[in-house]
Amino acid sequence: MRTIEATRYVTPLREGGSMPALVEADDDGLYVLKFRGAGQGPRALVAEIVAGELARALGLPVPEIVYCELDPRIGVAEPDPEIQELLQASAGRNVALDFLPGSLAFADAESVDPALAADIVWLDSLVMNVDRTPRNPNLLTWHGSTWLIDHGAAFYRHHRDDSDPAALAAQPFPLIGQHVLLGRAGSLTDAAARLAPLVDDALLARLRDLIPPEWAAPDPYVTFLRERAARGRAIAEEADDARG
Ligand SMILES: Nc1ncnc2c1ncn2[C@@H]1O[C@H](COP(=O)(O)OP(=O)(O)OP(=O)(O)O)[C@@H](O)[C@H]1O
Ligand SMILES: [Mg+2]
Repeated sequence: MRTIEATRYVTPLREGGSMPALVEADDDGLYVLKFRGAGQGPRALVAEIVAGELARALGLPVPEIVYCELDPRIGVAEPDPEIQELLQASAGRNVALDFLPGSLAFADAESVDPALAADIVWLDSLVMNVDRTPRNPNLLTWHGSTWLIDHGAAFYRHHRDDSDPAALAAQPFPLIGQHVLLGRAGSLTDAAARLAPLVDDALLARLRDLIPPEWAAPDPYVTFLRERAARGRAIAEEADDARG
């Protein structure tokens, strides 16, 4: 992952619960900045990195994810005290996603290829992402294809460094029943057969190295994902059962 530096606060994205911001960076690009100091805390940024880069490694379309250095002074002209608070609480390293200009809110599950839909459902089941529902799909349509954003609610049970990741990985995940693409998905066991073998030790080591240790202990994420991938077919069957 590259590191960029935010140079201009452009505007808040108020539809996002964590109030991410559109920023300009020192490479002249536009990015969606996810603040370390937002209410969800640095673990939401770890989830963004790990689930986002895992999705990319599985062949799913995710905007480039970068580390973003923030000097809170770029936002001095913002009058909103809530924004000032976020900026102050997030000085230093954060995470940002390449901004997809002109992307549209996801509207039509029927437009997604069933195999792709199955891959996305299986990924979200693997990482226990609770944020891909019809009300809040966290998918964008850009140049006619579907892009995955906002993985901050993945690993949603990883609230503490001392929670047992292998035990968490064995828990049921009934919330997959709310997934926006579940009705559209093709065979989930086929998706598991395609994707689970890709979650190997080399990939897990690469993901672990992306986690800033001052944000969260990295090893539990590795253990969790290894255990989840080993249950790849079982989690596909669980999602199948949730189709009702
Ligand atoms: N890479 C991107 N390109 C274009 N628009 C984006 C991008 N990332 C986010 N957005 C827009 O900003 C909104 C908020 O972003 P995001 O969903 O990541 O924030 P959040 O605070 O985690 O949201 P949530 O309320 O779902 O938890 C998205 O719904 C989308 O409209
Ligand atoms: Mg969102």
